[in-house]
Amino acid sequence: MKQNFSNISKVRGELSLPGDKSISHRALIFSALADGKSTIKNLADSQDVNTTIECFAKVGVNINNVGEVYRIEGAGFKGFNESDSPLYCGNSGTTSRLISGVLAVQDFPTVITGDESLSNRPMGRIIEPLEKMGCKIISKDGKLPLHILPCDRIKAIDYILPVSSAQVKGAVLLAGLHSEDFTTVEENNLFTRDHTERMLNLPVEIIGGKKITKISSAFYPKPADYFIPGDISTAAFFIVLTLISKNSNLILRNISLNETRTNFLNILISMGAEIIITPKGNSNNEPFGDVIVKSSELKNIEIDPNIIPGIIDEIPILSIAGALAEDDFIVRGAKELRVKESDRINSICLNLNKAGFDITEFDDGFSIGGKLENSYQSFESYGDHRIAMGFSVLASLTEKGSEVNGFECVSVSNPNFLNQLNSIAEFS
Ligand code: S3P
Repeated sequence: MKQNFSNISKVRGELSLPGDKSISHRALIFSALADGKSTIKNLADSQDVNTTIECFAKVGVNINNVGEVYRIEGAGFKGFNESDSPLYCGNSGTTSRLISGVLAVQDFPTVITGDESLSNRPMGRIIEPLEKMGCKIISKDGKLPLHILPCDRIKAIDYILPVSSAQVKGAVLLAGLHSEDFTTVEENNLFTRDHTERMLNLPVEIIGGKKITKISSAFYPKPADYFIPGDISTAAFFIVLTLISKNSNLILRNISLNETRTNFLNILISMGAEIIITPKGNSNNEPFGDVIVKSSELKNIEIDPNIIPGIIDEIPILSIAGALAEDDFIVRGAKELRVKESDRINSICLNLNKAGFDITEFDDGFSIGGKLENSYQSFESYGDHRIAMGFSVLASLTEKGSEVNGFECVSVSNPNFLNQLNSIAEFS
């Protein structure tokens, strides 16, 4: 589907966004594991999170939605049923990798499948540690479908993450929940989002650039009431739109302020962005608060490759801020972007090149210089929700308006993107 965007002259108002996608997946998983009733408020409104709900329904977890509250009747330790058909994870890397950590330790088989994009993403990164833990998984060259065989005994392991991935860390930790012995996961310098460890209250040690997280069955989740703070990665698109539009300001209410997710705000502030952050509280160990954003003049800064895992989902929209800022915008050390919902390095470079910028593509990043062309542009989503939303922002900033092809994939994380955009925009 082609979506046309008119030029936005000003941004004004307030947004309260649906819950963070990463926290929502985990709240559902912990509720499904717990023995008893849990509730979730402000769950993400997203296709990805719906696949997690559907997968747990297939293994016998009762999840229903009454008004704004999800009620989950958890299965308890080893209480899931075998599914009579494959668990389809759609486009969701987080669903496929995290539920593999839960289902690979059960005494029944499971098949995990996904859409075309997910079927091309690497799964060897979870198969390797899970097999070290005693799980048995047959894959198609390290890709979906995964045929998970019954597991008779789960072994605790000490694992050093070879790729900076919170999904891999999460899969190992979730499997580790099923052994009385301690499993440890070590991250070096490049720390990833920490929702699993925060929400399960896991012991974490940081020593000389290494972060070690421990888990055992002593940390098995109990029924809980969750409130999910607004999605900061979704907010990022509206934040950049406001910064770049003239005479604009925006208030985002009750947004996640988890420090492993707000690095892009620190980068924008160092680039000259006027952003005021007001912490308001904590829910299930996850901090949240309000963020006020005002139009600003931005100037590019050097981005430390060690911060890349902390801005991995915001690089598409940061690239648009960087392309429109003074000086060149350079990202290096971000090879992981090539195995996201699309090859994001390539998707960003092709679209920005079309828009008239001078682009150099590297194996692990890109540099952007030059200026936005003044003509109507036709951007491609490449079937990737964050590329679609990022280039919708750029399309709204072009003088003559522009379009995004394949826009419908925004529903993977935010089906209401267009309504939210229209609610805060004034058009020229
Ligand atoms: C996620 C982790 C990140 C991120 C994804 C969500 C999570 O992936 O890109 O959108 O919820 O754990 P990786 O951990 O593979 O980098």
